[in-house]
Amino acid sequence: MAPSRIGVLASGGGSNLGALLSHFAAAPASEHGAVCLVLSDREDAGALERARALDIPALCIADPRDGVAMRELLRSHDIDLIVLAGYLKLVPAEVVAGWPGRMLNVHPSLLPAFGGPGMYGSRVHAAVIAAGVDTSGATVHFVDEHFDRGAIAAQQSVPVLPQDTPATLAARVLQAEHALLPRVVEAVAAGQLVLNPDGRVNGQLHSLPF
Ligand code: GRF
Repeated sequence: MAPSRIGVLASGGGSNLGALLSHFAAAPASEHGAVCLVLSDREDAGALERARALDIPALCIADPRDGVAMRELLRSHDIDLIVLAGYLKLVPAEVVAGWPGRMLNVHPSLLPAFGGPGMYGSRVHAAVIAAGVDTSGATVHFVDEHFDRGAIAAQQSVPVLPQDTPATLAARVLQAEHALLPRVVEAVAAGQLVLNPDGRVNGQLHSLPF
């Protein structure tokens, strides 16, 4: 199987993109995939800078709602696996429909808890702390046309400590994201994790310790 051509959508600093770039820079991951395109809805996104530093095509999307344009852009780069790594816009239906079972998102909570419209960044961690739960974590899920609603591919939990602030919890969860996302992307690229048409996920990752 030829390595998957991975397209990454990111709105922010791109630390998850950085984790993907590091992971796929070496074997065995590099046999399964390579990041070939980075798109952002923000021209000043750090994620675009990270890509440009490695001579990876990095483009700002003129209109994130224009699904036809986004779909054609992805197709023109022969992208066959899409990863949302801190992408804050809803992915247009034309794009979701074009990559069934081949689009993943990372979310900084244990979905289905603390997800959905408006639940991003420190809002997630503030809600987790306010709820008084003692465990949070990262979720990587397949993307459908709703925010944070697709089938879950894998999760990694982290403790919520009594003295946590949204910032300290965010940092702990982000570490879990960096450990989890590249492994899930590699597993999907390698065909070890598959989203069935009935919405079930076949295969699994060995869970990581805290
Ligand atoms: C991460 O917390 C991710 O879960 C959320 O946005 C953040 C992206 O951070 N969707 P970065 O841009 O990858 O550093």
